[in-house]
Amino acid sequence: MYDPLRGLRRGSSVSIVARRSDEWKIYLDDLKTRALGDLEKASDVEAAEAWRIAYLGRKGRLTHVLRGISELPPDQRPAAGKRANEIKADLTAALADKTAELKAAVLQAAEAEQLDVTLPGRSPPLGRLHLTTQTLREMYEIFARMGFQIFESPEVETDEYNFQLLNIPHGHPARDMWSSFYIEGTDDQVLLRTHTSPGQIHAMRRYAPEPIRVILPGKCYRYEQISPRYDIQFYQIEGLAVGEAITMADLKGTLIEFARQLFGRQVEARFRASYFPFTEPSAELDIECIICGGSGCRVCKHTGWLEILGAGMVHPVVLENGGYDPAQFSGFAFGMGVERPAMLKYGIEDIRYFLANDLRFLEQFG
Ligand code: FA5
Repeated sequence: MYDPLRGLRRGSSVSIVARRSDEWKIYLDDLKTRALGDLEKASDVEAAEAWRIAYLGRKGRLTHVLRGISELPPDQRPAAGKRANEIKADLTAALADKTAELKAAVLQAAEAEQLDVTLPGRSPPLGRLHLTTQTLREMYEIFARMGFQIFESPEVETDEYNFQLLNIPHGHPARDMWSSFYIEGTDDQVLLRTHTSPGQIHAMRRYAPEPIRVILPGKCYRYEQISPRYDIQFYQIEGLAVGEAITMADLKGTLIEFARQLFGRQVEARFRASYFPFTEPSAELDIECIICGGSGCRVCKHTGWLEILGAGMVHPVVLENGGYDPAQFSGFAFGMGVERPAMLKYGIEDIRYFLANDLRFLEQFG
């Protein structure tokens, strides 16, 4: 073990007072040799500091020698003082070199361990909202700004709500538009809803005769051949406004504003006559193909337009089924998919990605 005080203890018994005229020289040279030898043994910065205190400190060995010079014969003092100061300068310089060497060794050791303290830590992976949820929320916000509230209705429906109260009696050819999953043992009376439209009846029966403005989001199920544009499970958002003197102009204004907020101000939209048993007149809303800008491409089947929703004025029979007097009230309704508009907005080619649970797809959004 390095003992910085060893030299001092041993040296303290030796007096600088020379008996021979050159004895102080031998003593000083010996002190320097021992000091440098001890410094050499210092293995870390703390040991070097202890060495400094032992030799150059206030009570250090060399300091002690410098103080003792006055005891020498007067003719020897200048030479001895000069030599002692030279040794002090040499030891101070040797200490600086040694300290630098020890510090460099510490850094080198850290580098050898490849410890890069500046490397940022690994952040834990964060989840994100599914693209469908993101799109639903964007749609909720747009309709909320237009005064629509969210109304939730069941995913499992009766034939009465899913079809009959929407003016689609048993045997009606329009039933062919919605191939259905029926619940076993219910004699085809209970099914997974094929669209969000039965929610219209639930909302009207809850609020009639008050005016209402609601959207009804949720999952729908159809017995379909799965393909890039058709899945057996998908989302819809239904919209319903009932009140006095509501007209087709209100429907058009609401839906064009919605399309512009979702797809961008510049988007062109058009209404096309259509047929749904629960609206009269009925229409479908197309937007200018956002892939080709209207010039025609594979996605829009070279028409320049893409259908995004079905809509119309609520049929008087449906108003009556909901508890409103069609002589006093009128209303509009619309129903749109959620995945399909998202596919258009983000250029997604296949609806099956939405439920494939593939992070390479999911991580691209949000
Ligand atoms: C209806 O479901 C009507 N209930 C819409 C409606 C409501 C009309 C209110 C009038 C008044 P349609 O079958 O066209 O309409 O479906 C509406 C939208 O749901 C489609 O434009 C499409 O975006 C989406 N959709 C329908 N079937 C599927 C499917 N198999 N896969 C994915 N999306 C689908």
